[in-house]
Amino acid sequence: MLRLKIKTARREKVLELSPGNRDLIHYLDSDEVKYPFGCRSASCGVCRAKVHEGLDLLEDAGELEEDTLNRCGATSSTHRLMCRTRLKKLEAGQISIESEDDG
Ligand code: FES
Repeated sequence: MLRLKIKTARREKVLELSPGNRDLIHYLDSDEVKYPFGCRSASCGVCRAKVHEGLDLLEDAGELEEDTLNRCGATSSTHRLMCRTRLKKLEAGQISIESEDDG
């Protein structure tokens, strides 16, 4: 089982990820979670999250994501953009993220 722990300014939630979709935005973009998104195209940085656990379960960041994280004063070794982040595969483990948007 793969679990995703999410902390935002307004709530904390734990989701069990279902087989079939490896894009984290698929799980975060719901009324249940209300994760903060802006452009949804890796340019604004609103969706950046500190990854406390499970970074090894995520695909590597691409060049555009790295550039945006750098502009926000972060790197992909500690943070990821949730509009771009994909799971490597659906395996057992836990990913823990914290939004840095306090809006
Ligand atoms: S929503 Fe703008 S970078 Fe992800």
